[in-house]
Amino acid sequence: MSLPKLLSFHLIILLSAFTGAANGYYHSTLNECIYSSSDHSDMVYIQGYYYNKFMDIQFNSTLGEFVGFTEYGVRTAESWNKDTAYMQQVREEVNRVCKYNAELLDSAVRDKTEKPNIKVSSVKESDGKHPAVLMCSAYRFYPQKIKVTWLKNNVPETTDVTSTEEMPNGDWYYQIHSHLEYTPKSGEKISCMVEHASSTQPMIVDWNPAIKESERNKIAIGASALVLGIIIAAAGLIYYKKKSAGRILVPH
Ligand SMILES: *[C@@H]1O[C@H](CO)[C@@H](O)[C@H](O)[C@H]1NC(C)=O
Repeated sequence: MSLPKLLSFHLIILLSAFTGAANGYYHSTLNECIYSSSDHSDMVYIQGYYYNKFMDIQFNSTLGEFVGFTEYGVRTAESWNKDTAYMQQVREEVNRVCKYNAELLDSAVRDKTEKPNIKVSSVKESDGKHPAVLMCSAYRFYPQKIKVTWLKNNVPETTDVTSTEEMPNGDWYYQIHSHLEYTPKSGEKISCMVEHASSTQPMIVDWNPAIKESERNKIAIGASALVLGIIIAAAGLIYYKKKSAGRILVPH
């Protein structure tokens, strides 16, 4: 994997003279690569030199030279602009660093998506008096922006819905949980719809109230045993039929 390229710039006095716990003098340099087009044709490289938040000197790749904003800044900019070797290097940064790194970052970060794992589960069952609570969880998705909607018979439900923020896992994935309070009605279909950059279609997971998760395993084991039993019974029957048919054909 290619790694980003670093900028090269003039090192002028990096001073931070503290006069107290909260006060100090700061010199800072801000390098920016600004673009919005996907082909990077509008890429601009800005290099700003600041002293106590006030901009002294700025290089703008569209302009192609340094501009000073204080007396000291104007003098410094003039002298840097005369340094042809250095100016050639700075003017090239928009290609060498900005466009090069943008290409890496676009594919590695901007255009990167990871589909969520979606699960609908029961948090609380209805006891007749209180409504039931369902939870729709989306795990391990990227990027952060996501939309979780509850559907009742395919119609979006907005009341009695509470949702967490997208929570970072700390491994660049996110998770989110949305709760729905509802009073179960027979024949009503409840679904969770998730819209995310990783899928052009909304992802819909239906809630199956008849089968609870713990029962699903028991049903699966039961069904497997039943199928196995039928196979053995059928094999036995075929074997028995063949044997008895063979016996009839044998003349006494
Ligand atoms: C850079 O210079 C161009 C042309 O003068 C200007 O349009 C643009 O706003 C400048 N960008 C910044 C961030 O100052």
